[in-house]
Amino acid sequence: MSILRYTNKFLAGNIFGRALRHVACRTYSEGEEVPPVHLGQNERILFSMSLEDIRSIRHGLEIKSGDRVFTLASGGGNAITLLLDDPAEVVALDFSIPQLHLAKLQSACIKYLSYQEFIDFVGVKNMEPEERVRIFNSIKGALEADVREYWNANTSDINQGIINCGDFEHRFKIFAENAMNVALSPNQMETFLSMGDDMNEQRRYFKDVIDGEVFRRAYRRLGYWTFKGTNTDIMPALDYPNIFLQHFLNKVKTTPMNQSYFMEFIFTWKHGVLTPLREYLQEENFDVLKDRIGRMKWLHGEMMNYFKTFPTLNQPKFDAMGLSNVTDLMTLSNHNTTLRAAAKVVKQHGNILFLCVKGLPKTWPEDLVGSAVVIEHDKVKECSEMDRAFFWEDIQVAKVL
Ligand SMILES: C[S@@+](CC[C@H](N)C(=O)[O-])C[C@H]1O[C@@H](n2cnc3c(N)ncnc32)[C@H](O)[C@@H]1O
Repeated sequence: MSILRYTNKFLAGNIFGRALRHVACRTYSEGEEVPPVHLGQNERILFSMSLEDIRSIRHGLEIKSGDRVFTLASGGGNAITLLLDDPAEVVALDFSIPQLHLAKLQSACIKYLSYQEFIDFVGVKNMEPEERVRIFNSIKGALEADVREYWNANTSDINQGIINCGDFEHRFKIFAENAMNVALSPNQMETFLSMGDDMNEQRRYFKDVIDGEVFRRAYRRLGYWTFKGTNTDIMPALDYPNIFLQHFLNKVKTTPMNQSYFMEFIFTWKHGVLTPLREYLQEENFDVLKDRIGRMKWLHGEMMNYFKTFPTLNQPKFDAMGLSNVTDLMTLSNHNTTLRAAAKVVKQHGNILFLCVKGLPKTWPEDLVGSAVVIEHDKVKECSEMDRAFFWEDIQVAKVL
């Protein structure tokens, strides 16, 4: 282990080393604790909302009515949204108990609350903290005991609205208040985030009014806050502030701002004022989700080990599988091992999709392509073009052979 650490330190010292170090890391074995990549991983809620565009993910997964789907739980929002495609079951895995507690509380809200109570409680708009606690008390009897205990002990997260309580959401609050708020006037922000029906107009406004040294300096803080405290043994210390800025400068030419709820939240720390709400928070989808919420199956476990042990579980294979950007939090060898194991638990013609954070592109292991999966190049292009988030490499989609 100490030789590995020494090698990692040596490799970290030069630019080629950073890439090599990815390869040099070993594969951890079954049951072994996965090295944390983010501060507080598995100890508290890091992501209370997803930064992945569920519209692209649904397009890539091609879920059909009656399918059995695999996804990551995260905060629950994106996993629950998959119910809109009418799968028979969505298995949502996470190795973080607090993330699962959040996902389960969101499910219970959909099951037991009215639409208005649901969105007010979770934190779409401001609500008196006492009122949120009153709503929580009205449904907590329906929660599993450990979920209830967790939320009983974390009322401050309920007070602020559970979709706003994650570590990353708090980082974005700092970004919104201390960077964007300073770089742009309220009027500029509102005008810019409302644009997109006419992309020529958006491009012109961005170039003439928004873009400039002050905006760029501020925007770089997004990359800084996002990667602050990341374990660079796994996610190499790249120049994320500039990588994120360059990606934004490219994507803003083609992505309508008025459709990107990600950017509304990150720039203003608000939901649904200038852009539509996330799909699972939209009123038109509420009754369908309420009807189907019983199809969610929340599972605790580590993804690579889950796939490896899947054959012993005697369960039907999945029809579609979304891996989120989980393999960003793995060494390259574990990324490859995970994808090889994933391909074995998805049915023939089922799609597997994964994301990589901008700057850290990963692909399918060579030995898999053509023998176990075929890369869906058209889907990759379409999903990536549709992507309303500003953080990802091209979205990877392949079909199992
Ligand atoms: C990859 S994270 C990133 C957040 C995601 N990009 C989003 O926008 O929501 C999503 C979830 O995966 C979980 N996770 C990460 N690595 C995992 C693993 N190896 N096995 C199981 N869950 C994992 C995290 O706890 C987190 O809740």
